Amino acid sequence: MGIRHMGNNVAATVKSSRLPGFYKQSLAERVAVVAEWAGLNEDERAALAGPGGLQPAQADLMIENVVGTYALPLGVAANFLINGHDYLIPMAVEEPSVLAAISNAARQIRAGGGFQAESSEPVMIGQIQVLDMPDLDAACRAVLGARAELMALADQYGESVIRYGGGARDVEARPFPDTPVGPMLVVHLLYDTRDAMGANTINTTLEAIAPRVAELTGGRVVLRILSNLADRRTATARCTIPQDALAVPDIPGRDVARLVMEANAFAVVDPYRAATHNKGIMNGIDAVCIATGNDWRAIEAGAHSYAARTGRYTALTDWHVDENGDLFGSITLPMAVGTVGGATKVHPTARAAMKLLAVESAGELARVLACVGLAQNLAAIKALATHGIQKGHMRLHARQVALAAGASEADVQAIADRLVAEGNVRVERARELIAN
Ligand code: MEV
Repeated sequence: MGIRHMGNNVAATVKSSRLPGFYKQSLAERVAVVAEWAGLNEDERAALAGPGGLQPAQADLMIENVVGTYALPLGVAANFLINGHDYLIPMAVEEPSVLAAISNAARQIRAGGGFQAESSEPVMIGQIQVLDMPDLDAACRAVLGARAELMALADQYGESVIRYGGGARDVEARPFPDTPVGPMLVVHLLYDTRDAMGANTINTTLEAIAPRVAELTGGRVVLRILSNLADRRTATARCTIPQDALAVPDIPGRDVARLVMEANAFAVVDPYRAATHNKGIMNGIDAVCIATGNDWRAIEAGAHSYAARTGRYTALTDWHVDENGDLFGSITLPMAVGTVGGATKVHPTARAAMKLLAVESAGELARVLACVGLAQNLAAIKALATHGIQKGHMRLHARQVALAAGASEADVQAIADRLVAEGNVRVERARELIAN
């Protein structure tokens, strides 16, 4: 819908996100590389590295009943080339393999020129539930007849969003004649939130216009709340990977392309597989949302409800072999993220992560997130369809097992290597090795 945005960063790339050997560097070296890349100052560098992150006193102002803060590993994914522009992607996640896998997938996608991404206008949906109307059809007509009036009324609120050119875009009426509580009218306010995620603005506006909706319909207004099925605020990413870039030991790229297409087809037809397929997509998207202080539950709700929008839950991606034998992939999903307000601005690590990401708008962040989802999915289904994920995963998982068994930092890698060599990645065995 509306104008699609490709971003303003199609100019020549200045900095490359190819960071060969990044994963082999020490933690301190990685921080230095990233800080230099993004021009972080001392405070931002400390916030990214941990010590300068969210302090309990700040957390105490964010939510209720605070007793402390909770830390997660923060990694940086390399190799992302999106609409001709290089990005380093901050990701907060506890699961091993996610960062290695996505950086690897982004490198293969880069071989085909990177991602092409676009996003819709940032139009959210706010819902007003109306019950007990004398006449459902007449209530519908009354609301639609008053569209202009309701939009003008809505635009008297949410001043900061209005100042930046956002505001009401349309009003829709959705009648449900037969519900467990009688006829119901759901009024949708379509609302452009610009660079804000927009939940507060929309909910305030809905509460403000609800009395007029009650008058127009002669009914009783109950819920006034935004919808997380943000299907008017979507982002799309596409890529084409040359078959040669897909090859793995013992399997030529041409065959890998076909295997990925087959894996995707599994998720297209079977909801049991689609749930896991889409979970893998969200491994990446959630991690960036958490790192940047965005509401990842909203993004999760949007993604899964969008995947079920036809009435049957299915894959969010398409992967198929194109006429040249190369692999084409795409994803479209709701992307209600913001670059202003909320934790994005309050949480010191989120602020530093946003500086590293260097996006200029919520639309640009949405486009990056769609690419992250597509790359994470490629990594997962390519591994699953070729040599399986356990081999690589176990190597990384073994470090967590060694840590859980109480290995010192100096010994973790040696213990983990031994667990993998023995094919016995278990805490009990790690404890024995430590004791010896
Ligand atoms: C694990 O966190 C994610 C995967 O299960 C995703 C998938 O199966 O596509 C590997």
